[in-house]
Amino acid sequence: ETDAELVRSVDLIREVPDFPEPGVLFRDIGPMLSDSTALRAITAALGRDLEFDVVAGVEARGFLLGAAVAQHFGTGVIGLRKPGKLPAVADSISYELEYGHATLELPADTLAAGQRVLVVDDVLATGGTLGAACHLIAQAGAEVTAAAVVMELTGLRGRDNVSGTEIRTLLKA
Ligand code: PRP
Repeated sequence: ETDAELVRSVDLIREVPDFPEPGVLFRDIGPMLSDSTALRAITAALGRDLEFDVVAGVEARGFLLGAAVAQHFGTGVIGLRKPGKLPAVADSISYELEYGHATLELPADTLAAGQRVLVVDDVLATGGTLGAACHLIAQAGAEVTAAAVVMELTGLRGRDNVSGTEIRTLLKA
């Protein structure tokens, strides 16, 4: 894809003020995902020149992007899930959010020790989610070779919570 395609793609992200609560500017990637050219450009840019055997997408928007990246680069995809959804859990990790806690679960029989994993999500905000995803994968004896997100909210310094991992972001806001 060209730089112009990428720029056009991220321009399709819609900004929604005061969602999910007052004062928060929500970035809606829906219009970007539903555009075939944008989806292809974003997908290619997220994985280009990275080494990985499998993609791990973070619920929920990371599932859509992660599956597209996996398909583009010819790998499988693993969905890291919020609690209570999986019939069989290999491992789980709990982490702090700005207000409260969250948990991510790794489905059983998906990730093999030694596999190289690309973690994919839509947004890097505080980094709590991406950091937890990387820990969960490392705990399983696999290796996160990189994490790739469409958008990084740099003011929150989320990168500091994902130390030691290459993070690719397509757009900084
Ligand atoms: C959003 C986003 C990331 C995470 C980033 O997910 O999709 O996964 O928050 O935030 P952080 O860097 O502060 O952890 P959300 O919790 O809204 O879940 P959803 O995708 O299921 O709506």
